[in-house]
This record gives sequence, C-alpha cells and structure tokens, in this order.
Amino acid sequence: MKQHFTVIHTDGQARLGTLSLPQGDVATPVFMPVGTVGTMKALHHRRLEELDYRLILANTYHLYLRPGLELLEKMGGLPQFSTWDRNFLTDSGGFQFFSLSKFAKFTEEGVKFSSHIDGSKHFFTPEKAIQAQNIIGSHIKMVLDVCTPPNITEKKAYQAHRTTVDWAKRCQKEWQASGEQGLLFGITQGNFYKDLRKLSIEELAALDLPGYAIGGLSVGEEKQVFEEFVHYSTPLLPANKPRYVMGIGTPDYILQAVEAGVDMFDCVYPTRVARNGAAMSFDGLLSLKNERYALDNNPIDPDCTCSACQRYSKSYLRHLIKAKEINALTLLTDHNLTFMKRFMNEVRASIKENRFALYKQAFMDRYYQSSH
Ligand code: GUN
Ligand code: ZN
Repeated sequence: MKQHFTVIHTDGQARLGTLSLPQGDVATPVFMPVGTVGTMKALHHRRLEELDYRLILANTYHLYLRPGLELLEKMGGLPQFSTWDRNFLTDSGGFQFFSLSKFAKFTEEGVKFSSHIDGSKHFFTPEKAIQAQNIIGSHIKMVLDVCTPPNITEKKAYQAHRTTVDWAKRCQKEWQASGEQGLLFGITQGNFYKDLRKLSIEELAALDLPGYAIGGLSVGEEKQVFEEFVHYSTPLLPANKPRYVMGIGTPDYILQAVEAGVDMFDCVYPTRVARNGAAMSFDGLLSLKNERYALDNNPIDPDCTCSACQRYSKSYLRHLIKAKEINALTLLTDHNLTFMKRFMNEVRASIKENRFALYKQAFMDRYYQSSH
C-alpha cells in the first residue's frame, strides 16, 4: 500500500502531518467543513478554494436519498457533478441513521430506516455503504458503524461494538473486491466503557485499514468525559495512521483532540452557527443578534480577510441577520470558515515550533474567558 500519511513532527502527543490524497495533499491537523449534500451551505466552491480547503465532507445517507445513486452514477459521481475537484470524505450513514432517521432498526445484517425527507423505507448494509461511496466517488470512505448514546448498558454497548467490527470487516471485503477505490477508514466505538473502547481499537487495528476514526463521541456526554475518552483512545491507535475524531468542531474540543494526537475532525458547527447569526472570533463566539452590536461600526475582526470583515460593520451584519437577508448566511459562513482556517494554521504553527501547550492555554484564555 502506498504511504498516504506521514507524521512530520510531534510536540508532546500533538502531531503535524501530511495526508496524501488523490486530489492533493492535506496538512494535518485538519478541520474538514461539512458539505452534507455536496455543497457548503450558503458558500460558493470558489471561496472554499480561495481559503485553501482541500478536504470536505459529504454524507452518504443524504446523497443516497437525494439526488440518489442512480442520478449520481449518470453524472459521473459527486466530484464531477459538483465540480469540486479537491478531496471529499464521505461518512457512511452510520451516524445519520442514529441521529436523523425517525425509525432505524439495526440487525446483524444491516439497518432498516425511514427517510427523514419522505418517510420512505430503506435497507442499508455494509456492502451497500461501500457501493454507495464508490458511486459517490469520495476519496476517503468510512465503514458503516453503530453509534450509541451515553448511558446505555455495557451489554448493549458490547452488542453495538460486535456489530461495528463485523460490519467493518464486511466493508473492507467489499472495498477490496471493488478495487480499493480511495482510502477506507475504520470507526472505533465502544461507548463510554474503556475495556470496550480498547477492544474495538484492537480488533479494528488488526484489519490494517488506511486510517481510523474515534466514533461515538460528542453524543451528549460531559466535556470532561469526551476528553478522558479521547486521551484514552489515541495512544491505543496505530501511530503511523491518520486519526480522526468525528463530529467535533468547537475550538475547545479541537484543541483537546489535537493535544491527544488526533489529526482530523469535522463538524457542522462553524457553518451552522454562522447561519444562526454567530461569528467565531479569537475573543469568543459573537452572537451578532445581540443588542450590544446595534451601533457597533467595527468589523467582526479587523485582521480577518473574509468578505464580511473586509467591508461590513457588526452593526450592518446584525441588521442583515435580523432582517433575515440571505446574504447574511453567506457572509457569516465565509467569516467562520476563514476563522477556522486561521485557527488551524495557528495550531499547526504552534506544533511545528514546539509551543502547542502554550498556544492552547493562551487561545482558551482569550476565547472562553472574555465577556462575549
Ligand atoms: N459522526 C459523528 N460521530 C460519528 C460516529 O460515531 N459514526 C459515524 N459514522 N459518523 C459520526
Ligand atoms: Zn471575517
């Protein structure tokens, strides 16, 4: 197998790396923005390119339901259809069945679920998850897994773990049988039981997949529990493979994960809060709907190069948000993804210069201790 991941430098457990993907190299630690259906909501692809995002997420579950695999196949796959010629990572659907479907029934064979769009009934299997991701044409594919909420019994967590490992094996077989298109990542589960987390990692690591995610985190557990399980899991994962914590995107969670040696993360957070009128800044999250900004004639951040900060005041942005002008969604999405890019650049620079711990402390003090 071609070497697709290199750790360039470490600072404590934090690592600086390069992920070599078919559509270009990606510097890690990397934040991957989420373009669920093949677009970044409210933002043009061109802007993502300008910001140098090279790896974005899409969701198999959503694309399977709409526009559907038949159409995607006819249109030559998602990269061609969407004209995004950099890299896509697709989640398998495991999490969406858990979080979105009104009805989802997991059996050993697969998962029965109903569409959140029209209620139609479907059946998904590990094999189908790979076939779907092959049709989509993503560059990193995820195995189908069983994600569980906190506070379930160890017996239930064990069953979900067994199914997850069994499905990972079936996904790997299907991936190999279809010519190993893209990189296939395993997803470790185990709920909030350390012995199960360890077992999950051991059994999945034995499959020697190109990368590994830690799944089933940030599902409603306390922040301290998240930290404990990230720090517990990372040293058990193969050191020479990319490590990915799924579904995290707030700066504090990202810094915790980087500290533990995680290389990749994704979350709808920056783009979702943008559409809700919240701007990320080094002084914390600014809720621009707040009265305090009504007469604030300054940009969100004078040092930010985004289309909002280059031109508009907080007062004007607040007016657009309150008037529900659709431009506000674009402006704030641009701002938050520009912020995430700057933030991750700083994180990588601090690792490179062996001052990540100091950077983390200084960032946290400013972001979370300010009065915003
Ligand atoms: N997104 C966030 N958490 C998870 C998870 O545990 N599994 C999958 N497939 N996607 C996720
Ligand atoms: Zn900005």
